[in-house]
Amino acid sequence: MTRDQAPYWNTNVARHAGILRAVPPGCGAALDVGCGDGLLASRLARRCGRVVGVDTSAEMVARARAAHLEPAFLEGDFLTLDLPVEGFDFVCSVSAIHHMDFEAALTRMRELLRPGGVLVVVGLAREGSAADRARRAAAAPLVRAVKTVRRATTPEGMPTTAPVMTYREVRQAAWRVLPGVGYRWHLLRRYSLTWRKP
Ligand SMILES: C[S@@+](CC[C@H](N)C(=O)[O-])C[C@H]1O[C@@H](n2cnc3c(N)ncnc32)[C@H](O)[C@@H]1O
Repeated sequence: MTRDQAPYWNTNVARHAGILRAVPPGCGAALDVGCGDGLLASRLARRCGRVVGVDTSAEMVARARAAHLEPAFLEGDFLTLDLPVEGFDFVCSVSAIHHMDFEAALTRMRELLRPGGVLVVVGLAREGSAADRARRAAAAPLVRAVKTVRRATTPEGMPTTAPVMTYREVRQAAWRVLPGVGYRWHLLRRYSLTWRKP
């Protein structure tokens, strides 16, 4: 395995390359919210001076600590953990924000970012309109094929939950908290939000 090769692939890992491209040059400190088994945090550690991964799952944090020496992994609720305000140049979160109160989580991420810092949130949402459902149906064969070819797997014990907010609700709420936020829909059933703190 080369240094940058993931030990497994899934539709979350598929977004890692884009997230890593968004890391600002000279990133001193980065935070991964809902870090799971720590794979993305370990990749961030090659680009940033200090990386912190936080997760509520004791099992995930134990696995992250066992697999990766470098990032610091904290067990607890991101919304209440003691983290430094304006302490991070880069904050990211993959498929975790739908486990939390969306606006409260975005507000906290905004607060923890330094001015000039970058935030990337990759999330899941629900189809809320006929157009959303048609787009999902059109993409389904390709999504199935990619997942089969890439042998998509979810690490055992990873906490998951179904999203409640629709794509439209996500866009509207994100715009309220992060004016000017960039929004993208991704074929493999994810959206991403990208924002630079003024
Ligand atoms: C679907 S998993 C995604 C994990 C990882 N980001 C990935 O891409 O593989 C969602 C993670 O968010 C964590 N989580 C849920 N609510 C959280 C909270 N309030 N604070 C921190 N982590 C949380 C869960 O324990 C779980 O590990």
